[in-house]
Amino acid sequence: MDKKVTCPVMTTTAGSPIADNQNSLTAGANGPLLMQDWQLIEKLAHQNRERIPERVVHAKGWGAFGTFTVTKDISAYSCAKIFSQVGKKIDMLARFSTVAGELGAADAERDVRGFALKFYTEEGNWDIVGNNTPVFFIRDPLKFPDFIHTQKRHPVSHLRSATAAWDFWSLSPESLHQITILMSDRGIPVSPRFMNGYGSHTYSFWNANAERFWVKFHFKTQQGHKTLTNEEAEAVIGKTRESYQEDLFGAIESKDFPKWTVYVQIMPESDAEKTSYNPFDLTKVWPHSDYPLIEVGVIELNKNPQNYFAQIEQAAFSPSNVVPGIGFSPDKMLQARIFSYADAHRYRLGTHYEALPVNAPKCPVHHYHKDGSMNFFAHEAGKLTGHVDAYYEPNSVGGAQQNAQFKEPALKISGDADRYDHRLGNDDFSQPRALYQLFSDAEKSRLYNNIAASMKGVPEHIITRQLALFEKIDPNYAKGVQSALK
Ligand code: NDP
Ligand code: HEM
Repeated sequence: MDKKVTCPVMTTTAGSPIADNQNSLTAGANGPLLMQDWQLIEKLAHQNRERIPERVVHAKGWGAFGTFTVTKDISAYSCAKIFSQVGKKIDMLARFSTVAGELGAADAERDVRGFALKFYTEEGNWDIVGNNTPVFFIRDPLKFPDFIHTQKRHPVSHLRSATAAWDFWSLSPESLHQITILMSDRGIPVSPRFMNGYGSHTYSFWNANAERFWVKFHFKTQQGHKTLTNEEAEAVIGKTRESYQEDLFGAIESKDFPKWTVYVQIMPESDAEKTSYNPFDLTKVWPHSDYPLIEVGVIELNKNPQNYFAQIEQAAFSPSNVVPGIGFSPDKMLQARIFSYADAHRYRLGTHYEALPVNAPKCPVHHYHKDGSMNFFAHEAGKLTGHVDAYYEPNSVGGAQQNAQFKEPALKISGDADRYDHRLGNDDFSQPRALYQLFSDAEKSRLYNNIAASMKGVPEHIITRQLALFEKIDPNYAKGVQSALK
């Protein structure tokens, strides 16, 4: 070691200096260990607690910090402070991920990619927990655990099962749009830098006049799309399982900061009753010709995490994190996700996950939650004002209070409570057809081959059922897959 480097004295976690970090305490040079070697015990005990549950989905991920800059004024649609001024910059965090693979999975696998963003706004954290696709495989959250079971390992063989995936998909025609994207060139981006992101769901905006708009978010890569064929991906994985981490981390280290242009599509509230498709159906896009992209700003990732575990593994994103001016929609999938994520975080990270530095809002926090494991902060409702007796609400000792100025405009809803068949009369074919028709002949041919490759070992009756669905998109789609299977 360079003699000029002066090292601090190593200590235990309790701060006590350590004299020897090389040799355990033993009875005689070759003798057994002594129980009183509490430094050894502390080291082993800490190591035993280094792993936490991995995310039940989206376990493998890559992330970085950056900024969001407003480039266009959209205050006519949203009063959210994040959009209040052109030129305004907000700190943010991004985490990208594959869906099915575990923490150690290879990066360049064919899968949908997560595209999760946390904006640390002055009115609290706003999270977009989207994907690199504008749609999803299902439209009713009751099917989400079933769908994910088909993507994860078989309970007996402990192998991923193409049969389960295609069995489920062929019985769920609403998956056709997302399958067509997944099996297209965009199914394996070279790295997160070269893919778009989408909020996917319809959310809502409201403006200073309490007018509501429906909104979809788009994040278009400024690096351009770069994708891998199956063969290229196999070659990459043969050399490294960590191609995304290497690319994203490396680009940011070398100051080649990736950027995405942020756009919204805006739908006036009353249009939702007029569109030929349900605008809250997660298996559908809003055609650009009906609802053009409106530029909002740009995101740039320019800072790598200093501690991957603390800042990326412990990052907690949730669609429930919205701020005044941004709200939800009746999308059933979104409604379920509003519950699911915070529940997952409490299990995966603990009760006070939002107090961890990466998740903590960068604005004052005044809530009345109390105690719980690992509470390391002052009580939040009165700490800034010094009103330490304000640990319940209402109180007469100056604790934080609600403020009606942040009230969301009322949302009209109607209908009888029932379980409605979401497949009845739903057109699952027109939008995948529009996408299919965008593909060049070469792209179509790769689509057929990718589907055929992923159907290896799948029983004939499942393939036949799936081909009948492709047929309804376009007879050439079915024919193409059929001949690729041969
Ligand atoms: P447009 O011709 O206006 O847009 C086509 C869109 O398709 C572009 O956003 C393009 O993204 C995207 N695209 C191109 N290749 C792929 C691919 N392999 N996988 C996923 N997206 C791809 O068409 P419409 O708005 O009328 O939509 C037609 C079809 O395009 C839709 O049915 C849908 O499948 C797909 N699409 C539509 C989107 C929307 O919000 N309207 C968003 C994304 C896809 P890019 O501009 O980055 O090249
Ligand atoms: C992660 C549930 C649909 C994007 C997760 C996690 C859960 C979950 C429990 C793990 C959270 C954690 O431990 O931190 C669900 C449910 C869904 C659903 C119940 C449907 C009902 C979707 C959809 C998208 C999506 C439609 C995208 C449009 C993501 C992303 C992550 C994630 C990006 C990883 C977030 C991160 O980087 O930490 N999901 N999900 N999910 N989900 Fe979903």
